[in-house]
Amino acid sequence: MRQKILVTGGAGFIGSHTCVELLATGYDVVVLDNFSNSKPAVLDRVRQIAGRDVIRYEADLRDRGNLERVFSEHAFSGVLHCAGVKAIDEAQRNPIKYYQHNFEASLALIDAMARHNVRRLVFSSSATVYGESARVPYREEAPLAPNTVYGRSKMMAEEVLHDLVSSDPSWHIAILRYFNPVGAHPSGLIGEDPSGVPSNLMPHICQVAIGKLPELGIFGHDYPTPDGTGVRDYLHVVDLAEGHVKALQYIFNEPGLLTLNLGNGRGYSVLEVVRAFEHAAGSRINYKFAARRAGDLASYYADAARANEVLGWRARRDLTEMCRDAWRWQQQNPNGYE
Ligand code: WQD
Repeated sequence: MRQKILVTGGAGFIGSHTCVELLATGYDVVVLDNFSNSKPAVLDRVRQIAGRDVIRYEADLRDRGNLERVFSEHAFSGVLHCAGVKAIDEAQRNPIKYYQHNFEASLALIDAMARHNVRRLVFSSSATVYGESARVPYREEAPLAPNTVYGRSKMMAEEVLHDLVSSDPSWHIAILRYFNPVGAHPSGLIGEDPSGVPSNLMPHICQVAIGKLPELGIFGHDYPTPDGTGVRDYLHVVDLAEGHVKALQYIFNEPGLLTLNLGNGRGYSVLEVVRAFEHAAGSRINYKFAARRAGDLASYYADAARANEVLGWRARRDLTEMCRDAWRWQQQNPNGYE
C-alpha cells in the first residue's frame, strides 16, 4: 500500500511540480485546490508526465464541510500545504483576502489535521518573511520583519505552527521558505501560467520573447548592486519540488519543527537573468529601464546550507537550465493551459 499525501494548491505552479515528484517517488497524491489561480487541466498534464493520476477535489480550504469530507475519505500520511495567494501588490491593496487565504485557510487545515490525527505537515512559506532588516545571505534564524502584507500573512501562519509544536510535540512540521522559483518541468507540459500581465520577472521575460508583450520594464537600475539592477535568488521549480519530497521524508521520522530556506544560495541580477534567457532562447529581449517598484529590496539571497546539512538537498539546476525550461514551456504553451 502506497502512502497517501494531501497537496493543497496542487494545481498551482509549485504544487503541480511537487505532485509530479511525489508520484515519481511512489506516493499516492490527493489534490485539494479551489482553482482560483490555476486550471484543472494542469492535473491532466501531471498524469501525462507521471503516468499516474492524482485524486482531485475542487474546494476552498475555508470550506469546512468539504475539508472534513476529504479527511474522512482518506488516511493521509502527511500534508503539503502549498495553497495560497502570492501577489505582493495585490496583498497591499486587499489585506483581508491575503489573511483569509494564507492565514485563515492554514488554520482551518491544521484544525482538520488535528481532528483527524494527521500530524505531519510541510508548509510553503517565503523568503519575504525576513524583510529588509535581515543581513544577506538570509539565515533561518534571522529575525522576521516582513515589509509586506503578503510576508506578514506567511509569518503569521508560521507563528501558529510554532505554537502548535510547543503545545503538542507529536506534530512533525517543516516550514520551507522559498526564494524565487522559476523554470518549468523539462517536458514543457507544466509551468507557470499567470493570469493577466505577469508581475514576476521570468514569466514577463517569456511573454516578451514570445511576442505577447512588447518589452520588459526593469524596475530600477540604480540599486547598490554590481550592475544596478535588483538581485534575487532564483531556483528551478523542479529543485524546489524535490526539496518538498525530501522535507516530507525527513519529518516522517522527526517530530518537532524544522525551518529551512530553499534557494540556490547565490543572487542573480535582473540583467543577468535577461542575458541568460537571451542565451537560452537565442533571441534578444527588448527591455527598458523603469522606476523602482515600491516595496522591492535591492538584493537578497539564501544561506542554503541548512537544507543541505539536514536534508542533503541543494539546488542543482543552474540559471541556463531555468531559462531553457521556462522558454520551452512558453513555446509549447503560448497561452498557458488555456
Ligand atoms: C524579481 C526581480 C524586480 C518584474 C517574488 C514573488 C513573491 C514572493 C517572493 C513567494 C526584482 C525585477 C520584476 C519586472 C523587473 N514569492 N522585475 N521587471 O519581487 O523577488 O518576489 O518572490 O513567496 O510572490 O513575487 O520577484 O519576479 O517579481 O522580481 O525588473 O517586470 O525582478 O524588481 O528585482 P520578487 P519578481
